[in-house]
Order: sequence, then C-alpha cells, then structure tokens
Amino acid sequence: MNAIPKKRKKSLNSRTSSAGSGDLDKDKLPKHVAIIMDGNGRWAKKHLLSRIKGHEKGSDAVRAIVRACREIGIAYLTLYAFSTENWQRPRSEVNALMTLLVKFLKSEQKELAENDIRLQVIGQMERLPAKVQQALRETMNLTRSNSALQLNLALSYGGRAELIRMARKIAQKSKSGEIDPDAIDGDIVAEHLYTKGIPDPDLLIRTSGEMRISNFLLWQVAYSEIYVTPTYWPDFGKDEFLDIIIAYQRRKRRFGRAS
Ligand code: IPE
Ligand code: IPE
Ligand code: MG
Repeated sequence: MNAIPKKRKKSLNSRTSSAGSGDLDKDKLPKHVAIIMDGNGRWAKKHLLSRIKGHEKGSDAVRAIVRACREIGIAYLTLYAFSTENWQRPRSEVNALMTLLVKFLKSEQKELAENDIRLQVIGQMERLPAKVQQALRETMNLTRSNSALQLNLALSYGGRAELIRMARKIAQKSKSGEIDPDAIDGDIVAEHLYTKGIPDPDLLIRTSGEMRISNFLLWQVAYSEIYVTPTYWPDFGKDEFLDIIIAYQRRKRRFGRAS
C-alpha cells in the first residue's frame, strides 16, 4: 500500500519547519487523524505475555500519540478502541479492557484537562459497564470547554451500527414531518452520525499490517488517505507517527477530480 519511510534521526525542531523538504509541514497538517489501534494480542504473544499485558502496553502508546497530536497541532484524533464485534471476545478479555479504560481515564484526566484536550465518545456508550460510563462522563465534563485537540474514543463502535442508527433517526423524523425525504442529502446523513460536527478523517492509520477497515467509520473514510504499518500498536510511537504524517503530506488527494 505504501512504503514506510526510513527511520528518521532528526530532531523534532528540524522536522517541524514549514518549509524544509522531508520535514513536517505545519501548514499542511491533516485536520483529523483516525487510527485503528491493532496488534496488542500479537505483540503480547511475541513477548510471551498474556493478551491483557498487550492491551496494557497499548495504553502507553495511546498516551504517546495523544501527546504527539497535541504537540504538533492536530485538531481531531479518533481512536478505535473497542468495536461492536469485540464484545464477542472472551469475557475475561472484555472485562480487562473495560478496567484498563477506567484506569486510563483516571490517570489521564488531569493531563487532558490541563492541555486543552477535549474527550468525546463515539459508539454505543449505553452498552458499556456503568463504571466505564461514569468515568467517561466525568472526563468529558471536565474537558468539555477544551478546544486545542478533540480526542474521540470509539467504544462499542461499529460503522454499520452507526449507519443503522442514522437511518432510524432520519426515518423517524421523516415520519413526523420534520425532514422531507426528498431533501435527505450527505449533510443530513452526516448530521445523524456519532461524528456530527467533526470533519471526515484526512488520514486513516492502521497498525499491525491488516489491510482492512474492520467496520470503522464506513461513511466518513470515503476519501481518507489510508496508511497501514506492520508495527504492532504497543510498539507504535511518535517517531513513526510523524513519518506517516510526512508521507501523508506527499500524497496527491484528488477526490475523484482530474489531476
Ligand atoms: C487491538 O489489538 C485492541 C482491540 C481490538 C481491543 P488486538 O487485541 O486486536 O490484537 P491482535 O489483533 O489480536 O494482535
Ligand atoms: C479492530 O481490530 C478494532 C479495534 C482496533 C478496536 P480487530 O482486531 O477487532 O479487527 P479484526 O478482527 O482484525 O478485523
Ligand atoms: Mg486485532
């Protein structure tokens, strides 16, 4: 799909000028980056550890990437943390993921609040355990006036479930006369998704080498630039993230038009 740039050894400063070739161009940043954080289990297996240890290590990578986004000035970061299909994993793994999420929120709340980062959730929040919902609500409330970076956590998220929910909402409004069926267009569809008000992702990254979407943001990724890296999520860090953004900046986006 795309070649992975060689490891860069330059300092951040030399990479963040707005002119230099091979450096990050601050004027051409993707506004919205979405990430399918995959490979925790395989990372754990490789290190002879339990899958749960892989998820624990994965939460360190989340912290690093959130910080990096805030530092370079990305406006929206959406992280696929738990899919509607992930409920079918063994109960012990689901429970561990939920516990880890609460732990993560408690430990990061302060940093998010102080660094002008706003937390939002996309997905079936009502399906999450009460403790998780409570920690999410608390963090969302605490950060709701923040605006430098919006961090969207996709939890019990599925693209198809989101589209079904949208269809039901629009159908109901059509039935009650609030929406004229002939007036339904892309804007009305977008307004009835979890991502209402959020621009579509410019860049979609998937770790662990799998070449699939796995039910993530089906409507929204129509014209996202896709980058797949073989790195397992727990090994993913700021350096590789910056390299991917630089690679993104070299792409020609055409949106179906003639070049
Ligand atoms: C991603 O890692 C985390 C979640 C889906 C919750 P996986 O747990 O899917 O790791 P692999 O794909 O088995 O390596
Ligand atoms: C996608 O990863 C979901 C998340 C990263 C939360 P999965 O590991 O669940 O997807 P598949 O099974 O490889 O498609
Ligand atoms: Mg996986």
